[in-house]
Amino acid sequence: MPPDNLNSKVNVSDCLSKIELLDRELYEYFYSVIIINSVLKRKHISFQGNKDRSYYRLYKYKEAFSADLVEYLFQQYPVLEGKILDPFAGSGTALFACSSLGYDADGIELLPVGQKIIEANLIAREGNKNRILSRLEYWLVQQPWNREGKCQELNTLRITHGAYPQTTQNKIGRYIYDIQNEDIETKELLLFALLSILESISYTRKDGQYLRWDYRADRNQSANTFNKGKILSFDEAIDRQINQIREDLIHHDRPQDLFSLLQGDLNKGQINLLKGSCLDILPELKSEHYSGIMTSPPYCNRYDYTRTYALEHAVLGVNEIELVRLRQAMLTCTVENKFKDLITFNQSWKTAINICNQMPLLQQIFNDLDHQKQTKQLNNPGIVRMVKGYFYEMACTIQECYRVLQRNGKMFMVNDNVRYAGISISVDLILSKIAEELGFTIKNIMVLPQGKGNSSQQMGRHGRQPLRKCIYVWEK
Ligand SMILES: C[S@@+](CC[C@H](N)C(=O)[O-])C[C@H]1O[C@@H](n2cnc3c(N)ncnc32)[C@H](O)[C@@H]1O
Repeated sequence: MPPDNLNSKVNVSDCLSKIELLDRELYEYFYSVIIINSVLKRKHISFQGNKDRSYYRLYKYKEAFSADLVEYLFQQYPVLEGKILDPFAGSGTALFACSSLGYDADGIELLPVGQKIIEANLIAREGNKNRILSRLEYWLVQQPWNREGKCQELNTLRITHGAYPQTTQNKIGRYIYDIQNEDIETKELLLFALLSILESISYTRKDGQYLRWDYRADRNQSANTFNKGKILSFDEAIDRQINQIREDLIHHDRPQDLFSLLQGDLNKGQINLLKGSCLDILPELKSEHYSGIMTSPPYCNRYDYTRTYALEHAVLGVNEIELVRLRQAMLTCTVENKFKDLITFNQSWKTAINICNQMPLLQQIFNDLDHQKQTKQLNNPGIVRMVKGYFYEMACTIQECYRVLQRNGKMFMVNDNVRYAGISISVDLILSKIAEELGFTIKNIMVLPQGKGNSSQQMGRHGRQPLRKCIYVWEK
């Protein structure tokens, strides 16, 4: 349970300098392992790095890292043979990249959208290729969604109501109805194709914290002038997507580069998807079972995946109650996340919680944020609970990761630093210190050459200081 450090007499500028001092101390403590890595570019830690790679490019999961990054890290920091874990698997980049390198891989993912992407990719790689290709050919040529026929009524959520032009909505309904008649593998791939185009055919755009609506949508939004640009027709978007899946199925055996040629698909590892929250699943995994962990948790940046992936979740049949349940089950990273009583998940997490309770920099940050909340300087009071929840939950996750890793096992984590109300939060240093206290050796904190600011509002008020985007390399 986070201690309540509120000191109502605290002076903000004192506090800032205390934070700066403690932050500098920790920076100096880790100075010898912090490296600026000029080989890595921003595209390596985003889905952009996957855009030329077959299969990976089929779903632009905005929060993904690239397969190139996984390959690069495993080359730089050799990982013993065995099994890899990603407790925040997302679209499964780590799982598929590690499998191609010959490792078995387990991935935990909470959200149905990520689970569906992983399952579809497994089918694309391992399914009955000839049958799937001939069915996709049929769908491309016949366009059954343009024929008269029954429509599946579209499940909508409050935040997705009116998301598509009427013609598009009808075609989606026809498409969903007709794919039910396909064999299970083709059906899953056609559903995946639909999920991958929903944003492009809708009036919305994913915008981190929420879905942003185009002014053309038929909603009560007279002041809205946002124009998302071209809204694709259903035919154009689905045709392009099914074609791309077809191409990748046909050409997948062609190696992308020398590295994959050498590693090849010859000794591909098994992939296993575990559905649910890693806070529930991690404690059930065997100790010392994995030779490596490659992951990127949600960042502490208020991004609400349950809102930005609402179109996809609506199509997948998620209802309002389930959506709220998913939001609360996520690792705390939005202002709406409620406090999770971590001890009820696992008694042994007292260790991680105590480490957080005793970390001066972390407590000073909480203290200052609490003060800013009391004096109404935070633009959202929920930020305090979010930042506290984030670090306590991450500490427990790291404790579990340490337990399930074998001796000498490596853990790689991609994460960004953040800033709230002028307070820079060195997520890299804090999580690395927690990891160290839990037993890890901090091999490197790799910093990408260019940081980014936070919101333009923050930059205006507090001056621009680049926020580090990092990859942490820890060893058990
Ligand atoms: C930064 S993304 C990971 C992206 C992934 N590396 C990729 O390449 O696609 C973080 C993921 O963690 C998932 N997540 C959030 N809270 C979770 C939880 N408690 N348990 C499991 N997964 C969770 C989110 O749904 C999201 O897909």
